[in-house]
Amino acid sequence: MRLVKAVLAASIGAAIALSSSVQAKQITIGFSQIGAESEWRTANTNDVKRAAKENGINLKFSDAQQKQENQIKAIRTFIAQKVDLIGFVPIVATGWDNILREAKRAKIPVLIMDRDLTVSDPSLYVAKIGTDMYTEGRKVFDWLDEYVTKNNIKPRNGGDKINIVILEGTVGASATTGRGNGFNDAMNDSDNKDKYKILASQTGDFTRQKGQEVMESFLKSNRNDIDVLFAMNDDMALGAIQAIEAAGLKPSKDIIIVSVDGVKGIFQAMMDGKANATVECNPLQGDLFFKTAQKILKGESVPKSVFVEEGVYTSDNAAEVFPTRQY
Ligand code: AHR
Repeated sequence: MRLVKAVLAASIGAAIALSSSVQAKQITIGFSQIGAESEWRTANTNDVKRAAKENGINLKFSDAQQKQENQIKAIRTFIAQKVDLIGFVPIVATGWDNILREAKRAKIPVLIMDRDLTVSDPSLYVAKIGTDMYTEGRKVFDWLDEYVTKNNIKPRNGGDKINIVILEGTVGASATTGRGNGFNDAMNDSDNKDKYKILASQTGDFTRQKGQEVMESFLKSNRNDIDVLFAMNDDMALGAIQAIEAAGLKPSKDIIIVSVDGVKGIFQAMMDGKANATVECNPLQGDLFFKTAQKILKGESVPKSVFVEEGVYTSDNAAEVFPTRQY
């Protein structure tokens, strides 16, 4: 009798396990990444893939090789494959309305990661997980102004303005406009705004190679006038450091260098005395992304924008923080 009861209990248990595994169908998510333009982007991609695995998601990952048209194609493929949810990083802010209408007609929710987008109808996507690019730009200026004031920095050419050059990111990307607007607004709001002048500003497309090339051309025309480099990402700053050294100048001393991201490469440069500060842009967004996707698919409401946490690191604390950096 005891044996019969045990067999009965085991088979009921197995039946319950079977029925709940049938109910918990694995979620399939199509994700379109921009490409691999920077150390930051590689860390972001690795985190998305890791988090998908750990959250039990069937991930269809597509790399757009820096082209919006490839992202649109990938999203159309995800729609045809009837994935449960579509995620993507908008390489530029505009040009998404039509494809997002197709996703809406197919009743597939869309969750944005990292960069912002501008659409005519906000219901075309459910929410965005990412970073606050505008605040990052403000933090860059605030750090710079404090540093210049505290260290009583004077223009190298003996003039009356601290001359700044800017390496911008991809044209039309929210990371570029957000950081640029944040920086300019913080400068205009500052009591010290008349101390500074933006000497030149040009895109380096968020890559090390172009950062180096554009810095070379800045130095060709203004070698003795540049006091500050604001690079909208660390990779461009790292490329620019090579150009500055090749021009016979000392990065971080002759030219103050502040950038955005907080990747290990810039920490190394700060520890080597070649860069001054980085404003963090946190690429580790995978867990938040997939947890939010799961909530959306369960019909729970989620905030329209969720930002990850970010800090500011300088050459003074780089060595202490470096061992804790994950990317
Ligand atoms: O969108 C985030 C930006 O894109 C990062 O600052 C940059 O490194 C990346 O390529």
